[in-house]
Amino acid sequence: MTQKSSRLPGFYKLPIAERLKMVADWAGLDETEQAVLTGRGLQAGQANMMIENVLGTFELPLGIACNFLINGRDYIIPMAVEEPSVLAGVSYAAKLIRAGGGFQTEASDPVMIGQIQVLDVPDMDAAIAAIAANKQKLMDLANCCDRVIVDLGGGARDIVVRPFPDTPVGPMLIVHLQFDTRDAMGANAINTALESLAPHIAKLTGGRTNLRILSNLADQRLATARCTIPADQLAVPGIEGRAAAQLIAEANAFALVDPYRAATHNKGIMNGIDPVVIATGNDWRAIEAGAHTYAARNGHYAALTDWHIDENGDLFGAITLPMAVGMVGGATKVHPTARVAMKILGVKSAPELAQIIAAVGLAQNLAAIKALSTVGIQKGHMALHARQVAMAAGAANSNIQAIANQLVTEKNINVNRAKELLAGN
Ligand code: MEV
Repeated sequence: MTQKSSRLPGFYKLPIAERLKMVADWAGLDETEQAVLTGRGLQAGQANMMIENVLGTFELPLGIACNFLINGRDYIIPMAVEEPSVLAGVSYAAKLIRAGGGFQTEASDPVMIGQIQVLDVPDMDAAIAAIAANKQKLMDLANCCDRVIVDLGGGARDIVVRPFPDTPVGPMLIVHLQFDTRDAMGANAINTALESLAPHIAKLTGGRTNLRILSNLADQRLATARCTIPADQLAVPGIEGRAAAQLIAEANAFALVDPYRAATHNKGIMNGIDPVVIATGNDWRAIEAGAHTYAARNGHYAALTDWHIDENGDLFGAITLPMAVGMVGGATKVHPTARVAMKILGVKSAPELAQIIAAVGLAQNLAAIKALSTVGIQKGHMALHARQVAMAAGAANSNIQAIANQLVTEKNINVNRAKELLAGN
């Protein structure tokens, strides 16, 4: 069987129904799954079972990013996001990266960190020694709670102690449980393990335990994506490829040294990451928390990416960040649209999903900093944004595009002008 290609030229120009048919063929979606994408998504009754005080549901556009070639395999990527330019930008960047052979990615085992806070420890050194002497016993205890994960090969991997002799409330011993959660995001598994472990830790240390909760700085659960783009692919009118590569490397260097720029640079990365995390029913706040804390791991907040010119004069890019996503449990299995999104992705494991998301983040970042360092982002972005401006001014489906086109032609993309156009002025 020939491999499916994620190159879908002209996809963006098709009517929704034709796009849906293409994706349904690509991913083998049945009628029910297609209906989920066109309005039969999360129903109020299901939402009512997920959270409290439900009134209804909140919709976001769901689009498909094309052109992704990751470790030699084609993927099309479902992304839920409200911001124009994200899908166009990431698909364009994935096409450039494809020209250099696509992404190479890897992920660590899905090891989460859970923390137990211990206070009033009478003898810190003795407590640390007692935990070290009982490490295996503690890991066995931690494995008692989630037999499913343990039977699948997951479970406790290590116990690490971190003393904080000087805190506002006195000395504190923090005990880390490292726990492989397999294909689950694993918050519940690790929190349950921590709660069962805490009394044993208290007894061993002679202290008192307080918090028992996972850490979102999931730095034992990292995903990495890399790519190399031939310099000539980066040329734009008036800027030859090698020069464009240099401008992109300079943009990255700016975000490595300056946290004001790093915040925006990393926000652009999350423009790609969050929509996939959301579409797959994962916890995007956890991913955001992990990403930004990891970005500050060296004591100052910096870019999550590396872009530099390699020895051949081509542009090399890489990203590594925590990626605590799952594909079993939680909304990934309950939310009908997330289930369809997972089917479209066709991933087989949580680490595979993590790698795809890292690749999307890298591509999204490239789209942003390439535009910023060459033509600027406003030209392309505002043309796409014009449709939202026309809608905000009250344009109906039948005239949104015409009003948007006129705003672009006039180079005056604002709601007041859109209102004037609607009024026939
Ligand atoms: C806008 O949503 C994201 C950018 O600001 C990212 C960046 O500046 O790199 C364009």
